[in-house]
Amino acid sequence: MHDEQLYGRLVAAAKDAIISIDEQQNIVLFNPAAETVFRCTASDVIGKPLDRFVPAALREAHRRHIENYGAHGDATHAMGGARLLSGVRADGEVFPIEASICRVDSPTGKLFTVILRDITVREQLARELQASLQQQKQAEAALRESRDSLRELSSALQAIREAEKTRIARELHDELGQMLTALKLNASAIADDLQPNQSELARRTQDMKLLIDTTVRSVRRIAADLRPVMLDNLGLAPTLEWLTQDFEKRSGISVELTMPDEDLGASGDAATAVFRIVLEALTNVARHAKASRVQVAILRKAGNVSVSVADNGKGFNEDSARTRSFGVLGMRERAYVLGGAFAIDSAPGKGTRVTATIPAFGTVAP
Ligand SMILES: Nc1ncnc2c1ncn2[C@@H]1O[C@H](COP(=O)(O)OP(=O)(O)O)[C@@H](O)[C@H]1O
Ligand SMILES: [Mg+2]
Repeated sequence: MHDEQLYGRLVAAAKDAIISIDEQQNIVLFNPAAETVFRCTASDVIGKPLDRFVPAALREAHRRHIENYGAHGDATHAMGGARLLSGVRADGEVFPIEASICRVDSPTGKLFTVILRDITVREQLARELQASLQQQKQAEAALRESRDSLRELSSALQAIREAEKTRIARELHDELGQMLTALKLNASAIADDLQPNQSELARRTQDMKLLIDTTVRSVRRIAADLRPVMLDNLGLAPTLEWLTQDFEKRSGISVELTMPDEDLGASGDAATAVFRIVLEALTNVARHAKASRVQVAILRKAGNVSVSVADNGKGFNEDSARTRSFGVLGMRERAYVLGGAFAIDSAPGKGTRVTATIPAFGTVAP
């Protein structure tokens, strides 16, 4: 096969539009793909200027560009660089193209061949992709915002509950406590004044004193369950000691508490968070673990208080625990709103370990 024949078939079969022009920039070759792209036949355009396919505003520049290129340019060369090129179809529609040009110096003069591709669809797809990415970004931002406000709301609600519990615990402990003490003093005074023959009254005042003692214990218990007053009065370490001893008594599960000797340095919101996390973790041990032993360890490191609660119970599979229960979620949130970290490690048969690290001076943002 002659080179020319081969060349002719390649041009005819090409999916890209191929247009050759002579030095006067008149069309000498217009392949079938070019006919499709520009919506006209080769016979309509052969011998006519290329100009009609160039947007009017660019015609002058384009003509000069080709002249220039004819004089100096490389033999092959992509057109437009990063600039988007466009063409005009026979029916006037302007559309985006990608094009390269090459020059052949033949005995009859220079020939320029432009190879171009209609990229309307690609551009359209790119725009749609861009738009959908944009939408996705907006949706993500909206989601993030709503999650942040939910988080703020939950932390604000928690702070309010904590403040309320503190107030009620105080009033129970202080006011009711004082009144009961006064009652008991009065009962004792009456008992002291009774005559030996008033044994029935003596028995009743004795019952009263016992009842008052029981009531004092109940009030203390209820107040402490709401929020131990000692958390604010004595601090975190004594409260944890009380909590773990109390837990051991109530649950029969033995607790080993290790704490540094020096002050934990955690107060306010941080102390509340550590206390509530240990309380919830211990409650879970009593409720779910079937453990015989639990280790509570508090560490102080680099401005953080780190707490771990590990039991030797039945453990659980984290996926199976993703129910609508808020204990674990609450612990995580408490650590999170203070800028801390939280993790729970558990596997069936391997026990459970809850760890949280909280900045000692962390406060919940108002
Ligand atoms: N120490 C533990 N030992 C065994 N299972 C646990 C332990 N802590 C939590 N779980 C499991 O994780 C689940 C979620 O705990 P939590 O969020 O506190 O909810 P709740 O205690 O209300 O069930 C529990 O229902 C339980 O199945
Ligand atoms: Mg729980």
